[in-house]
Parts: sequence; structure tokens; C-alpha cells
Amino acid sequence: RRIAILISGRGSNMSALIDACRDPGFPADIALVLSNRPDAAGLDAARQAGLAIAAIDHTPFGRDREAHERAIDATLRDAGVELVCLAGYMRLLTPFLTGAWAGRMLNIHPSLLPAFPGLHTHERALGAGARLHGCTVHLVTEGMDEGPIVAQAAVPVLPGDTPETLAARVLVQEHRLYPAALRRMVDPDHTPPTANADMALLSA
Ligand code: GRF
Repeated sequence: RRIAILISGRGSNMSALIDACRDPGFPADIALVLSNRPDAAGLDAARQAGLAIAAIDHTPFGRDREAHERAIDATLRDAGVELVCLAGYMRLLTPFLTGAWAGRMLNIHPSLLPAFPGLHTHERALGAGARLHGCTVHLVTEGMDEGPIVAQAAVPVLPGDTPETLAARVLVQEHRLYPAALRRMVDPDHTPPTANADMALLSA
């Protein structure tokens, strides 16, 4: 399956997906890495990995989010993309793009949804006194961080945690979860190895 990864920043989840796709047995190939920020560190990493990259800056489009998304959509289609993975893509999507890719667009979010949609999830989990936190891969729908859950991984919240230590613990799991969830999306019959037993991989 030909996938695109959409990023806005450092792209560590992107790198985890790149590493997974390097395995010839993995059922996805990366057709394109696309960023809305031309200076995203992740774009350099993708280029160095030998992947096709595109930067479609949102700033010239001003408030016209849909025009920006139409440019993205055209680029994805030109590249023959079949499935889109948002990986730290920090733009809210309009119904145009979520509709165009309905059922074919995944996102990773750093909380156990439906808890803590939106930003600053680690601060909010600590502030709420949560004992468990984690990450979620879900299908993208119109509502932000609301689509059907594909997979989740949980981590404990430990005494003395700061948003930074908690984020780092979650990020380790994000990098395991996203490739496993992508695999489940494109190859539902695949049986995950027992090493994945602590991640809840659900059929969407
Ligand atoms: C991750 O925590 C991801 O869950 C969230 O934004 C962060 C992106 O990090 N959506 P990276 O760019 O993948 O390193």
C-alpha cells in the first residue's frame, strides 16, 4: 500500500514509520512525506532517507484552509497515495480533506482518547491526577481527535513525573504503536508478535 506521512515538525513518529517500512515484509511503502512547514526538521530526515518530499506552506493561503488542503490533496493523488498517516501534523483539517480521505487517514494522538483531545495532553493528564496515560491511533474524521480508535498503548503516570518525563514515556510507545496500527490497517489478518501484547490493537 502506498502511504503518505504528513508532518509539521521533528518527525520522530515519521521516522518510526520509515524504519518499519524498510522491512521488505511490511505491507506499506512511503510514496511521499509532506509538510506544511518548509523548515520542518522531519523533512530533512525524510530526504536523507531517500524519500520523496513535498512542502506545501499554509501561510500563502491565509485563512483559506480548504485551498491549502486542495493543494495537499492534489499532491497526494499525483503521488498515487492510498493511505495518509498524520504524524505531528499540526493543522486542523476541514471537512474537505477529512471527507476526501475518509477511512484512509490515520492520526496519532498523545493521550488515551477520548480523554484529553487537543493540545497539552501530558500537562492535562498530570493535572487531572490520571494514573494511566498513553497514545491512540485513530481514523481521522471531522471532529478533532474524535475518529474511531484503531489502537492504543498505555503507560503508568509515575510519582514525580513532569510533562516532559511523561511525554518521553508516551513517545516510546507512540513509536511502537503507529507502525503496528498501520500494519493492522493494511493487513488485518496479520497476527502481531507477542511483543505487541501490551498494546491494544483493535479493528477499526
Ligand atoms: C507526537 O506526540 C504526536 O502524538 C503528536 O505530536 C507529536 C509529534 O511528534 N500528534 P513527532 O513530530 O512525531 O516527533
